Amino acid sequence: MAEIVPDLRGIPKARAYTELHEHGEAILDGITDEIAGMATISSLVHNAFGHLWTGFYRVVEPEALLRVGPYQGSLGCLEIACGRGVCGTAAAERRTVIVPDVEKFPGHIACDARSRSEIVVPVTDKKGDLLAVLDIDSEHLDSFDEEDKRGLEKMVSWFASVGRDR
Ligand code: SME
Repeated sequence: MAEIVPDLRGIPKARAYTELHEHGEAILDGITDEIAGMATISSLVHNAFGHLWTGFYRVVEPEALLRVGPYQGSLGCLEIACGRGVCGTAAAERRTVIVPDVEKFPGHIACDARSRSEIVVPVTDKKGDLLAVLDIDSEHLDSFDEEDKRGLEKMVSWFASVGRDR
């Protein structure tokens, strides 16, 4: 496979996400393995937008513990308790959390001191159970908005359309 990972910085976000989504769907056509999906989506999103850290935390103990999964960027924390930090909050509340300034989010977990803003999107499987969260960290304040929320939620909808029965 000689797929190209597009760099989509500089084009409007809505269009960038549409392109990225189509690209991801084509690459993952016929694939049902969740880890392969996480690795592929991390790479696509990371290289398209050039954020500091892009990756998944997987639910390893439902409603209790997240463990790092496929990611791109500097070293991530290995485990996060549900309810803790931005990832644990998104997991516990099952909603996308946008943090414009990490210093103003009580309990933010700093895996990389350069992180300034963050978005975390819950990932559900085809049964509707929480499978993971997708976490993206940026070196810049206020990097994420509703367009990112929409685009990333669409990217991770892949997991609800495929995968093992769990
Ligand atoms: N900042 C996250 C922790 C994960 S790392 O940033 C990769 C949080 O507060 O949950």
